[in-house]
Amino acid sequence: MIYIIIINLLIVFLEAKLVIYLTDGPIEKIGPRLYKKELLTNEYKDPIELAYDSATRNLFFMYMDDELLNSGRAYINIITKESKKIKGIKRNKATAIDSETGQIYFGSNDGLYVYDPLTNSAENIGLYNVDVFKIVIRDNQMYIIDGNNHMIYKVFGKKVSKLGNAKTVINFDIDGERNVHFVTMCGVFCALNGNEIVKNKDINIAYNFIIDNNKTYAITDEGILEINCYNGTAYKVADLNFHPRSIIFGDYGDIFYSSDDNIYRLKPITSYVLYNLSRKQRNKT
Ligand SMILES: *[C@@H]1O[C@H](CO)[C@@H](O)[C@H](O)[C@H]1NC(C)=O
Ligand SMILES: *[C@@H]1O[C@H](CO)[C@@H](O)[C@H](O)[C@H]1NC(C)=O
Ligand SMILES: *[C@@H]1O[C@H](CO)[C@@H](O)[C@H](O)[C@H]1NC(C)=O
Repeated sequence: MIYIIIINLLIVFLEAKLVIYLTDGPIEKIGPRLYKKELLTNEYKDPIELAYDSATRNLFFMYMDDELLNSGRAYINIITKESKKIKGIKRNKATAIDSETGQIYFGSNDGLYVYDPLTNSAENIGLYNVDVFKIVIRDNQMYIIDGNNHMIYKVFGKKVSKLGNAKTVINFDIDGERNVHFVTMCGVFCALNGNEIVKNKDINIAYNFIIDNNKTYAITDEGILEINCYNGTAYKVADLNFHPRSIIFGDYGDIFYSSDDNIYRLKPITSYVLYNLSRKQRNKT
């Protein structure tokens, strides 16, 4: 006779072998997947705009800095959990990592900055008259929102050119097929290949877009929805029982998100099937 006490215990069944995971932290379920939830830090106020650099395993984020009396920038290493504030930038709003070159860019209300890991500081490299509110890099091409008029621009070296005519854009992303997903005061839209604009019928707001391979997901009050750019629909793929202020994917199915003053890492527990203890016990008796 085996007695099992379930206190923060995850019991899984793996190839006819009972495996019991003692977890030191809570477990999060998103759709069919289980994740182990780990607090990375709670030492920064209101962290948002997460950006992950898989080469260094550093997670960059924006936070409200008491000394700057404005937004600062910092990073935390997801392995060592050491974090550091980045010098040379304030009132910064955006971050993007060019996954091909490894360059890390920040946006502020006085232009575009690049991160120097040797000095742990940010250096202003241009677009001085642009309020760089959001940065997206796809296929070596940088796109931004200019906070002065909330329109999207494509960046060519030190110059910018307008991408589309959408106004009041507060967030956007570009998927693997070059569709531009964006949120304005009027709703959620998708510009097919950057051209024909389709308004989404199912959602009016997306707090965040997540691009994963060729799929685009929106984080909404209802959970995670997959967006169809062509017919302007969105359908729910998973509930979320937390409200992330910022959420992104890392390596190997990791998810990082922030809420309040906390930044969490969700590590997938994917290769196991949940073992239904009560049913199994009943079948045996
Ligand atoms: C994404 O779409 C492109 C073009 O439609 C295709 O070549 C590629 O294989 C797709 N990638 C994935 C991961 O589905
Ligand atoms: C939109 O396209 C998706 C995928 O092709 C399909 O499943 C869905 O039924 C379509 N919805 C509408 C309203 O046409
Ligand atoms: C586990 O078994 C219980 C009791 O039979 C059942 O109510 C529950 O839905 C099952 N859960 C899963 C995940 O199969």
